[in-house]
Amino acid sequence: MALVSLRELVTDASRRGYAVGSFNVVNMDTLQAILQAAEENGSPVILSVAEGHFHFVDLDEFSPVILKAAEKARVPVAVHLDHGQTFPAIVKALRSGFTSVMFDGSLLSLEENITRTREITRMAHAVGVSVEAELGHVTGGEGDASPGVADPSLYTDPKEAAIFVQKTEVDALAVAVGTVHGIYKGKPELDIPRLARIREATQVPLVLHGGSGLSDADFQAAIANGIAKINVYTDMSQRAMQKIRSVDTLPQETGFPEFMCLVKEAMQEAVTEKMQIFGSVGKATGFGS
Ligand code: 13P
Repeated sequence: MALVSLRELVTDASRRGYAVGSFNVVNMDTLQAILQAAEENGSPVILSVAEGHFHFVDLDEFSPVILKAAEKARVPVAVHLDHGQTFPAIVKALRSGFTSVMFDGSLLSLEENITRTREITRMAHAVGVSVEAELGHVTGGEGDASPGVADPSLYTDPKEAAIFVQKTEVDALAVAVGTVHGIYKGKPELDIPRLARIREATQVPLVLHGGSGLSDADFQAAIANGIAKINVYTDMSQRAMQKIRSVDTLPQETGFPEFMCLVKEAMQEAVTEKMQIFGSVGKATGFGS
């Protein structure tokens, strides 16, 4: 099994009607929690490192560890750059051996986003690396503690999406249809008819960012309308923090590594729950066939 490209993952997910979860790696514990959940559930998975997390994850030191763990895994794993916003970050991920990169030009004009994304796809595809891009803009930051609301004026336009995909040749497209990164202020309202129109216009596997805090029904509707990859970070981070806050309830003799295993288990549970909702459990079997 082991290391695969994003393209292979989203193609299999689209074909078999599930979504592959993309979870953020910020240290060794998150890496192990995600992979353990994937292996125990026979689920394909994406290990994502966000450029915004480079201050936690030094790619020079840590990407060999991530890649080794991915290669050894008994399930298909992609190693992905999440929200690459600068050219040096994209090149660093390519040189580090990542199997996919996201270029996030979502705050640029359509023309500029096309030009910059096209430059990245030409370079990445030449070395067999898949590319995800974002059109429209999903607000909020990874693990944002302050509640956010989606801004409909920034939602993805289906006609623009068709032009964007055709000109950039991206392997997957992240869309803005009502999700936010971090915690939601109020109940999220996904614009599923818009998602259906984007899918029809693009015919490319679609990506949903801001996967923490949505209902099972939201996920099911999203997957039924073309979402093949779902990004999750805040739920994992919050589950870890809940466990950390409960430290006083543990026996006095609990040591640091034992405690960190409990934190890891809490994150693993959060990942497992998402894999169950996304329908990716057991999909390592028959993958790509
Ligand atoms: P959440 O932190 O809201 O789960 O979103 C994660 C994400 O979209 C990473 O790109």
